[in-house]
Amino acid sequence: MRGSGRILAAVLGLATVVAATACAAEGDAPRDVEVFTWWAEGGEKAGLDGLVAQFQANCGQYTFVNGAIAGGAGANAKQVLAARLAQSEPPDTFQAHAGLELTDYMNAGQLEDLSAEYAEWGLTSAFPKGLIDNLTVNGRIYSVPANIHRANMLWGNTKVLASAGITSNATTLDGFFADLEKLKAKGATPLALGRAWTQLMLFEAVLISDLGADAFTGLWDGTTRWDSAGVDKAIADYQKLLTYTNKDRDTFDWTDAEKLLVDGKAGYQLMGDWEAADLDAKKFTDYSYSVFPGNTGVYQWLADSFVLPVGARNPEGTKCWLKTVGSAEGQQAFNTRKGSIPARTDAVASDYPAYQQAAIADWKTLKQAPSCAHGAACSQGYQAALDAAIGQFSADGNVAAFKAALITAAGRFAK
Ligand code: BGC
Repeated sequence: MRGSGRILAAVLGLATVVAATACAAEGDAPRDVEVFTWWAEGGEKAGLDGLVAQFQANCGQYTFVNGAIAGGAGANAKQVLAARLAQSEPPDTFQAHAGLELTDYMNAGQLEDLSAEYAEWGLTSAFPKGLIDNLTVNGRIYSVPANIHRANMLWGNTKVLASAGITSNATTLDGFFADLEKLKAKGATPLALGRAWTQLMLFEAVLISDLGADAFTGLWDGTTRWDSAGVDKAIADYQKLLTYTNKDRDTFDWTDAEKLLVDGKAGYQLMGDWEAADLDAKKFTDYSYSVFPGNTGVYQWLADSFVLPVGARNPEGTKCWLKTVGSAEGQQAFNTRKGSIPARTDAVASDYPAYQQAAIADWKTLKQAPSCAHGAACSQGYQAALDAAIGQFSADGNVAAFKAALITAAGRFAK
């Protein structure tokens, strides 16, 4: 049985046990609240732990049950979740990205409307209007956002960079290529990279550099064509970047690529700002961060949110979790440890570590562009098609086939 199949079988087994336990206590109000995420280690777990501590303080009548399944960006968790939803065995709540990823679940009728809770908990005015718009379908709102993450960030090992004579991070792709060349000459892996979804993130950042934020955003609703000179340039730049990455990238999760950085074997890594929290959790301090070269002025965003699935065993317990997620204390307990910034607008920046203080300021002033690799810009079908196309391109380097796959995916899924 392959890895994800084993995980699926194990978790479905677990679900049966949990269901049996719930039946044994029939008649009693359920206590357990199973929270399904992919935050299993490092900074991600630290963030979840912060939220759980606040949940325990607010909702002592309920018991948190950790349904986390490891694997960056939900690579394993989402398969298990899809199987559980198909079998009407949902967890009490699960993590879903604001934007089109969430819309998939709504369209499938898998989520309960939380509009009444928004009014009761005062959430409508607590979050920025743009985010509320991303969460709303036909006037109803189906999830509570926990944070805003930034995707287009470049992390560096300052010692490795200094040894190659790099003392400031490039702001253009040309400057970046020159720096990657210096790192290569020193024998370091210039740019650490992982498997498909991390490759899609890198490609999205290159697309932003070559197209600009508006045309990039248009790729997702079909107003920007994939068969254009700008996209051709991005594919060529991306292909050149791949030559500076570790050859075993297709076997790596983001944390494996991060380890190359931490171990002083790589100079740079493109990754979302969960890396800030993870490096801090690993007590690694010799790191730099800057926006990806050519992305200056653009905040590529994504947001984690939590939902109340149709058929959840403990809806009242889930509501207590969701209320905690949306509260000022919950957002602080979570985001100070997660590398993200609070989705609420009333957060006090000085409560946060230095990276997030800068991010809170940037979020207010920079141009916003959504992430497809993390569900804000594209549906799960579109994302899966692009993950497959970019994974194939990593293996065969066939530009014509890659471009054709991008155009086919857009024809099917862009809207
Ligand atoms: C999630 C983040 C998470 C990252 C890496 C993203 O899709 O939104 O919360 O840290 O994946 O696992």
